[in-house]
Amino acid sequence: GAPVEVNVSSIKPGEMRTVEWRGKPVWILHRTEQQIQELKDNDSQLADPNSERPGFTPPYAQNEYRSRKPELFVAVGICTHLGCSPTPELAAEPGPGLPADWEGGFFCPCHGSTFDLAGRVYKNKPAPDNLEVPPYQFSADGSSVIIG
Ligand code: FES
Repeated sequence: GAPVEVNVSSIKPGEMRTVEWRGKPVWILHRTEQQIQELKDNDSQLADPNSERPGFTPPYAQNEYRSRKPELFVAVGICTHLGCSPTPELAAEPGPGLPADWEGGFFCPCHGSTFDLAGRVYKNKPAPDNLEVPPYQFSADGSSVIIG
């Protein structure tokens, strides 16, 4: 499939956009400063906090943000368990099925897997791996993301 170019300059902090790439939903989330800070605190609750398991994280995303730039998160919005699409639960407010100390992330309604705002899966959940980060790069002026 052809690469998909998305202008990300209009996505405000706290907003997420979903685009389609190779028939899959790809999320582009502009994380707020607070959301970026929260990613640094929750390692002990994550199954693979440093994204060391092969196949889901390109080398440029093997960092605590799982992204090329801390503020912009790009991920395939498909659960690594059985392929449902997790729901964005971006606010640090526990909704139904979420733990009381929820700090924002994604919730898979099919079997209850939870992921943080970098798509890292929490421990003891059915999903075996972090959400996939697709191949992507920024355009020369940084206004667009090119996926694929
Ligand atoms: Fe997401 Fe099962 S498909 S938890």
